[in-house]
Amino acid sequence: MFDDIAPRYDAFNHLASMNIDRRWRRRAIREVAAVKPEAVLDVACGTGDSTIALTRALPERCRITGVDISPRMLKVMEGKVASEGLGNRISIVTGDAENLDFPDGSFDAVTCAFGVRNFENLEKGIREMMRVLKPGGKLVILELSMPSGKLLRKLYEVYFLHILPRVGKRLSGNESAFRYLPASVVNFPGKEKFTAILQDCGCTSVTHRALSFGLARLYTASYSL
Ligand SMILES: C[S@@+](CC[C@H](N)C(=O)[O-])C[C@H]1O[C@@H](n2cnc3c(N)ncnc32)[C@H](O)[C@@H]1O
Repeated sequence: MFDDIAPRYDAFNHLASMNIDRRWRRRAIREVAAVKPEAVLDVACGTGDSTIALTRALPERCRITGVDISPRMLKVMEGKVASEGLGNRISIVTGDAENLDFPDGSFDAVTCAFGVRNFENLEKGIREMMRVLKPGGKLVILELSMPSGKLLRKLYEVYFLHILPRVGKRLSGNESAFRYLPASVVNFPGKEKFTAILQDCGCTSVTHRALSFGLARLYTASYSL
């Protein structure tokens, strides 16, 4: 599905979130930068917005890798990385988050923006992200969510479930993808359940923060042996 929508993903993404995603990404990147990482993995990096922003926020010595399962999303990312002259700072890898091709303990921080809700097996993906973290490393997950307040939730449902699929269809010709996207948010576990899943997968010191009245959520966790 992401292969199909790749060429228009960025335009749609910024339109759908009215650009608030940039602010959310900056918040997530601050969490990553706080551990002063030498090596960072951006899982489900897509067209690379978070990976590129990470590269700008972190010192040159930091090794940054983006991995995604969709070759066409990565193709768009490659173009952006090249046009920003960041080819020497970012490694781009095609791969499955649920079977990461990196040795245990490879990264000081692993981050995933708007990716985990798309995993076929959520727990497997989280365990993999934990496996490739060094002991003491940090996991930072940014994900869309249903807002908590009743009125906002109603408005959100109208926008996300009815308006957005039509806009998406006009932009991309692929209505089913834009029906899938909101459904994946509605079906994603709420904060208590997702926190429990993270803990079951071996994450410690799990924190959670609602962003923009719960339109997105930022989770952080540590990996300790
Ligand atoms: C909504 S996009 C988010 C992309 C990017 N992180 C961003 O912030 O714009 C979700 C991405 O998850 C990727 N994805 C879904 N399942 C995956 C998996 N099992 N392994 C790696 N990437 C996956 C898709 O290919 C897509 O690029």
